[in-house]
Amino acid sequence: MDQRLFFPATQRNKIYIGDVLSKIPLKKGFVLEIGSGSGEHGIEFQKRFPDIIWQTSDPEMEHRKSIISWIDYENLNFKMPKPLEIDVTKSPWPIYGKLIDNLQVIISINMIHIAPWECSESLFKESGKLLNFGKFLIIYGPFKIKDKHISETNELFDKSLKIQNSDWGVRNLEEVDKEARINGFSQKKLIKMPANNLTLIYQKVS
Ligand SMILES: C[S@@+](CC[C@H](N)C(=O)[O-])C[C@H]1O[C@@H](n2cnc3c(N)ncnc32)[C@H](O)[C@@H]1O
Repeated sequence: MDQRLFFPATQRNKIYIGDVLSKIPLKKGFVLEIGSGSGEHGIEFQKRFPDIIWQTSDPEMEHRKSIISWIDYENLNFKMPKPLEIDVTKSPWPIYGKLIDNLQVIISINMIHIAPWECSESLFKESGKLLNFGKFLIIYGPFKIKDKHISETNELFDKSLKIQNSDWGVRNLEEVDKEARINGFSQKKLIKMPANNLTLIYQKVS
């Protein structure tokens, strides 16, 4: 049964995020994606970066079914593992030895603002335990800078998030950076993306 979901924003941003990933020195090994959603990013990046193995994950069953459907649809079963059921707040994450031993990058796209702040804290804490020195944690989404929105549309979006759930909201870059530092990461790059989003590239430095 075809259970693929289609996320319009994902279709719009996948090329730009892929362009950022293409500049990272990705060695053979695994990328672990947190909050993969529909799986459209996963299959796109697996096709674009055939030397790595793209491991998707999501806590929502409906999303994991969509990811499996996308992997089938694209005939990527020979390469891509099935999605893992990872809720960032549930430690330890259910991951396997081969993934831990060969983990190059953890990436989370458009997750931390659509989840309580506790999820950002857990994302950094668990990533800090899993990633070795020199490896990368990449976060994409809208951010405030010095507690100010960088566009009117981001401000409206933030309001709409808080109406849905008062614990959600566009995060402040300085607080995200602080979580990174606490867990042994240094911000290596901040890349301005289309539609007032940012990509933050953190590297494990201790
Ligand atoms: C807006 S969607 C983004 C999906 C995908 N990354 C994309 O950009 O298309 C947010 C995703 O975060 C996931 N998510 C929410 N809370 C989470 C948590 N505690 N741990 C891991 N993922 C979570 C949701 O299930 C959802 O798939």
